[in-house]
Amino acid sequence: MEELAINGGPRIRLKELPSRRDIGSEEMKELVDVIWSGNLNRVGGTKVSAFEKEFAMLYGVKHGVASTSGTASIHVALGAINPEPCSEIITGPISDIGSIVPILWQNCIPVFADVDPETYGLDPEDVERKITDRTVAVIAIHLFGQCCDMDPLLKICREHGLYLIEDASQAHLAEYKGRLAGTMGDLGCFSLQQSKQMTCGDGGITITSNDELAERARLFADKAWPRGQAGDRGYLFLAMNYRMTELQGAVALAQLRKVQDIVARRRRVGDTLTKLLSEVEGVNPPKILPGVKHSYWLYPLTIDTGIIKATPEEFARAVSAEGIPASTGYIKRPLYMFSILKDQATYGSSHCPFDCPRYNRRIQYKEGDCPNAEKVLRELITIPVNEFYTDEDVNDIFRAISKVARYYRENPKA
Ligand SMILES: Cc1ncc(COP(=O)(O)O)c(C=O)c1O
Repeated sequence: MEELAINGGPRIRLKELPSRRDIGSEEMKELVDVIWSGNLNRVGGTKVSAFEKEFAMLYGVKHGVASTSGTASIHVALGAINPEPCSEIITGPISDIGSIVPILWQNCIPVFADVDPETYGLDPEDVERKITDRTVAVIAIHLFGQCCDMDPLLKICREHGLYLIEDASQAHLAEYKGRLAGTMGDLGCFSLQQSKQMTCGDGGITITSNDELAERARLFADKAWPRGQAGDRGYLFLAMNYRMTELQGAVALAQLRKVQDIVARRRRVGDTLTKLLSEVEGVNPPKILPGVKHSYWLYPLTIDTGIIKATPEEFARAVSAEGIPASTGYIKRPLYMFSILKDQATYGSSHCPFDCPRYNRRIQYKEGDCPNAEKVLRELITIPVNEFYTDEDVNDIFRAISKVARYYRENPKA
């Protein structure tokens, strides 16, 4: 049997996998327009508004509201629905912290529902169990590029009169039964941070077909300043300045015109890898729901430690030593085990909004709250995906994983 690279054997791959993003002359051209215009702010500019219109058109919705980050795009969605303080918002425990920070800034209470252990999407049954008389919304996080099981979530939200917000930050152009991520709920939110399927460095956009929510979202991202009206500035309600600049808008616009192609390339990489890895005993490629098209922000997998005698960490270290970067655990622990929630360490020395008299109950976050999510985070191995991977790159990833899997199936000692 071939010796593992981690034990001094030959590496499967000697050169680095592509990591540069598809950014070039198209982005430069749009950016140069902005520089020569002398107007870098979206007010009076053309690029951000063109980006919003084209994004909405691509997704087949009526409105897009650009902002400064994915975190901001979620805050804009919450600003649009305008929840009462101390309302509960149900979401998933595996995500970037940006998924829940806006909940706290709106003085609302995040409530965590567990995930499906194989697809990592929100478990609709657990969502329904977590609904109380205080619940106003559900935020469905489409993790790694795969949509949550949206039909049951939509049904539950409709039956209970809840808003459904989609956090599609990692799932640009992912599909669920012919519908695009971000278009199924009341509002869809996207991150344009560097690693996402399309990027302008940092940025975000919130989409909706609801005219009233769109109007409030637009105002919320611009200090509730009703532009174009005569008289004083209005400042209609408490709101943020989350305006995207024309510089970001220019790059986002050029990226938007490429994103279908980028996602198609990533999907080919991910789907090919899944096909190849499904033949490797003890390796579990991601389970894809029927009718879902993944858009592969990352490639997630797990190993069956009854067959492969290694921990996920040992396995990932050995794959990395073969020249294929593999990580474990994504955020390592569920969001509720970070201090902001576990210790309710929020504003100053207070525990607002958790100890607010308006919230006349106590919520405690603790280990064991979402057992599936905790198990997933213990077992998860992720491989980066890039639109420039060639068939040879994909084959090298497959060869590295199958070499390590074979080794630990047959020789459990590294
Ligand atoms: C699922 C998810 N939601 C929200 C965010 C926050 O986005 P940003 O980093 O652009 O603020 C991220 C970022 O990684 C994310 O992956």
